[in-house]
Amino acid sequence: MAKDRLLVICGNASRQLAELVCRHLGLPLGRADVTRFSDGEVFVQVEENVRGVDLYIIQSTYPPAEHLMELLMLIDACRRSSARRITAVIPYYGYARADRKDQPRVSITAKLVATLITEAGADRVLTMDLHSPQIQGFFDVPLDHLYAAPVIMSYFAGLQTEGVVVVAPDAGAVKMGRSFAKRLGADLAIVDKRRPAPDRAELMNVIGEVEGRDCIILDDLINTAGTICQAAYELKSRGAKRVIACATHGVFSGGAIERLEKAPVDEVTVTNTIPEQPNLPAKFRVLDVSKLLSKAILNIHHEESVSSLFI
Ligand code: R5P
Repeated sequence: MAKDRLLVICGNASRQLAELVCRHLGLPLGRADVTRFSDGEVFVQVEENVRGVDLYIIQSTYPPAEHLMELLMLIDACRRSSARRITAVIPYYGYARADRKDQPRVSITAKLVATLITEAGADRVLTMDLHSPQIQGFFDVPLDHLYAAPVIMSYFAGLQTEGVVVVAPDAGAVKMGRSFAKRLGADLAIVDKRRPAPDRAELMNVIGEVEGRDCIILDDLINTAGTICQAAYELKSRGAKRVIACATHGVFSGGAIERLEKAPVDEVTVTNTIPEQPNLPAKFRVLDVSKLLSKAILNIHHEESVSSLFI
């Protein structure tokens, strides 16, 4: 019966991830045409019946903004085609860093995008490692917030590390770092970072013991890698043995990959919430979160707990 039918479709931002999710679910990826007109405008058409279906649209919203537009249009198309319930599955929720009015006359894009997604017709949202957890409250529909931590933890549990210190590269990363350190049985160090301008990180101090230790710098995302590289130089200058940079979302813009290549970073670990860039240097690892996402989709479909996946 269509009422119980689960269907997954995606936009161009997350096709590979959506295919992996569908493989775990044992379902074919739903057919949707997501293309461009010659002037660059987006065109979407869902190519199968979605009437009465429990529908999941997988699409990360990293730049360009057309990825967000594709998501909004897919939601709109499915709503107008009578899908029973639409869940926007947004592994990486972009535009999240502007989440408060911290300067005069700035836009709070994290709220703006939440409004666009709900107004387009999403009944619920499934996302992962939001830049700040309070963004959940910007949505007036149910939101399930997954953590990549179980995937990242099982990777690090299998690594040969010694006297590990988890390093929070700024105040915003402390909570995530503390819970990660607790689970790993590691110590925590904190970097005091300032941002004199957008995309410019200035490091002030390191709180905690790092000499002779393996340091895992943990953040929600790596964008220009300024934050991670500055922290890495500082940790090495304080005698850190190995420096591993780890983040859920590898945005990698503005020469980030070259910067990380040159920096004293022994390994860079991210997940595939954003597609893996081609020809990444050998020290980069990309962990797969598709199984976790597929479990969350199944639990939502069967009205079961999603928090059981946090462990
Ligand atoms: C900041 O609050 C975030 O958690 C990241 O530390 C930051 O966005 C990373 O940016 P970048 O790689 O450009 O320093």
